[in-house]
Amino acid sequence: MIGVLLLLLLLLPLLLFIAAPQIRKMLSNGVCTSTAQLPGKVAVVTGANTGARVYIACRDVQKGELVAREIQTMTGNQQVFVRKLDLADTKSIRAFAGGFLAEEKHLHILINNAGVMMCPYSRTADGFEMHIGVNHLGHFLLTHLLLEKLKESAPSRVVNVSSLAHLLGRIHFHNLQGEKFYSAGLAYCHSKLANILFTKELARRLEGSGVSVYSVHPGTVHSELTRHSFLMRCLWRIFSFFIKTPQEGAQTSLHCALAEGLEILSGSHFSDCRVTWVTAQARNMTVARRLWDVSCDLLGIPMD
Ligand SMILES: *[C@@H]1O[C@H](CO)[C@@H](O)[C@H](O)[C@H]1NC(C)=O
Ligand SMILES: *[C@@H]1O[C@H](CO)[C@@H](O)[C@H](O)[C@H]1NC(C)=O
Repeated sequence: MIGVLLLLLLLLPLLLFIAAPQIRKMLSNGVCTSTAQLPGKVAVVTGANTGARVYIACRDVQKGELVAREIQTMTGNQQVFVRKLDLADTKSIRAFAGGFLAEEKHLHILINNAGVMMCPYSRTADGFEMHIGVNHLGHFLLTHLLLEKLKESAPSRVVNVSSLAHLLGRIHFHNLQGEKFYSAGLAYCHSKLANILFTKELARRLEGSGVSVYSVHPGTVHSELTRHSFLMRCLWRIFSFFIKTPQEGAQTSLHCALAEGLEILSGSHFSDCRVTWVTAQARNMTVARRLWDVSCDLLGIPMD
């Protein structure tokens, strides 16, 4: 009996080893196959320190410029611009939006991609808890400021990068800023749930406007997102074989931004380039509406 158990224990790593390519393939499932060309289109990608006119909106302009050069070299698209945007500061968000609206007539694609994960308790320039402040409120304000332009440019799309982590998320209205209790890991999950709820509420509000909105689970992607957590960095290292490259991680966002005929699925959550299930919390429109109102209130946006 013990012999059999031992044998199984020994075989397990071997089996995992043999199955690894399959598992890897499963995890990197979902490739954006759209060949859409985007002449004359304008896109904004936040936090992209990584055919259309593309604005990379990020905190570190120098790093952004390096990425822009890389994209220019790889794609031959010279129209890649870098603009300063710090989502942890509503002044910076307003300045970015103001500048963008002044220089561009159109906006066809907005990818709300930037985010922080598991940072120690800290606050944004406006005093919001960092996760909810950057991942949710920052993008909320940015989307709000660019919404008229998106409507004028319809058909247009907004893609919100959320995460499977929303599974553990809850919207605690009495503790939205982590003032009563705080866990760095959970704060991330809450903010990712907020992303999905907002996608749903925004989709509802934008029905018939020609602006479609999606939220996306990019997969577990190797990125700088783990910069705040030593443990996460270690885990990432160990399991790196099973973790998506940034290219793979971008596929679902690209799919939602580019694939034709997705309009009817506005408000949906995507993973591996397919519509996917979200938790009951993430479908609760009562919570979605209340969160919308609370967010407007926090950001001083007039409610309608
Ligand atoms: C994206 O998420 C942000 C923050 O949660 C929200 O304000 C915005 O309305 C969302 N946009 C879309 C298109 O879902
Ligand atoms: C939505 O959430 C509220 C508050 O948590 C809860 O009372 C309500 O039953 C939920 N509704 C649905 C349909 O799950």
